[in-house]
Order: sequence, then structure tokens, then C-alpha cells
Amino acid sequence: MKIGICSDHAGFEYKCGLIGYLEGKGYEMSDYGTDSPESMDYPDVAHPLAEAVEKGTVDLGIALCGTGNGMAMTLNKHQGIRAGLAWNKEIGELVKKHNNANVLVMPARFIEFEDAKEIVDTWLDTPFEGGRHQKRIDKIPVK
Ligand code: RB5
Repeated sequence: MKIGICSDHAGFEYKCGLIGYLEGKGYEMSDYGTDSPESMDYPDVAHPLAEAVEKGTVDLGIALCGTGNGMAMTLNKHQGIRAGLAWNKEIGELVKKHNNANVLVMPARFIEFEDAKEIVDTWLDTPFEGGRHQKRIDKIPVK
């Protein structure tokens, strides 16, 4: 499984930590930036990650910024993206089970790194439930 990941400066440290953590678990990681803790604009990395997920260059994506909202807003402009914000493992589970999020977004300034690992693990390990939830996500894209 190939996972794309991006962050702005606020999520940079967690992004670096998650790359090592997930590579250690056997995932192939593709880093879409940012490449330093210098202040930057989250859309500059969110759009390339969204395009990679839409094209199938990566199977899933992970994005981090301070609150998660800038990343989620930008990613969800792409029709093929369902970016879901999760700040605990229960939401990490539901965002896959019910929403089949193909990008997981986390608020780096409001969670501990241990929480981030737990949320990612839960999201990756949880299957999409389908059924009534498939019908609902089919109605999300703007025609
Ligand atoms: C950066 O200061 C902060 O605005 C950004 O990380 C994010 O929270 C935006 O939604």
C-alpha cells in the first residue's frame, strides 16, 4: 500500500514522525512536503496530494496542519477526494467505516503525536462498511 502525506509548517514534525512510523510498518510513503518547519501555505502541498490520490499514484493520503481545517477545505475542492478530519481514534474509525475517507486529516496543534499514530492505525485498519453509507457518499460530488 502506497500512502501520500503532506503537512504545512504546523504539522511538519508529526509528518516526519509518521513517515518513519509507517515505513516501519511496511507502508510505502510518498512525501508531498512541506520540507521544513518554515512558514508556508497549506494549499501548495494539499493540491498535489489530492491529485496523486485522484490519479491513483498513491492509494490513500494523510494531511496535517495546525487545526486540520485548511487542509480539509483545500483537499475537498477535488471531486475525487473525501478528506475527513479526525482528532481521536473513534473519529478515525468512523471516518473510514462511514465516510470511506481517502485522505485522513489531523490537527497537529491539538493532538499528541501518540494520538496521531493511534488515529492513523485505526483509520488504516478499519474497513469501509458500504451499504447505506455507499449511497450517501455517492451523493457527495457536485454534478
Ligand atoms: C498555520 O498557522 C495554521 O493557520 C494552519 O496550520 C492551519 O491550522 C490552517 O487551517
